[in-house]
Amino acid sequence: MATNNMGPYSDEVMDHFTNPRNMGEIENPSAVGEVGNPACGDMMKLFLKISDAGLIEEATFKTFGCGAAIASSSMTTELLRGTHLEDALRLTNQNIVDKLGGLPPAKIHCSVMAEEAVEMALKDYYKKIGKAESLVDDLKAEIKKERGE
Ligand code: FES
Repeated sequence: MATNNMGPYSDEVMDHFTNPRNMGEIENPSAVGEVGNPACGDMMKLFLKISDAGLIEEATFKTFGCGAAIASSSMTTELLRGTHLEDALRLTNQNIVDKLGGLPPAKIHCSVMAEEAVEMALKDYYKKIGKAESLVDDLKAEIKKERGE
């Protein structure tokens, strides 16, 4: 992890915290994923614009939470933009942490909230297009099996 005068936070975390990307709402989103973290009371809302071909064209967020949650949300929207739905399902909180140059152990759960928001948004999308939400759970389980988790 890069060192700076911001304690345990990497430069990348500080950059996304102080200059969050894609913050706000999308008008008429294709999907919305909302999650709350019962441990700390923080909340994240993710908005997606998805093309008919299943491509995530836009991803934005609104997060009420700590700096690590804001940085994780911001990074997540960056990682989602331009990806296909199925690739979005492959995004793990560890990918987010890696892209942020690491998070302190006590802040890993903040990145988990972002992964869960993606999952909730994709469930919302499947529901809207008339598919079973459980398809997301099935695909996630399949991906985990592939990874040997
Ligand atoms: S402390 Fe709640 S999400 Fe970070």
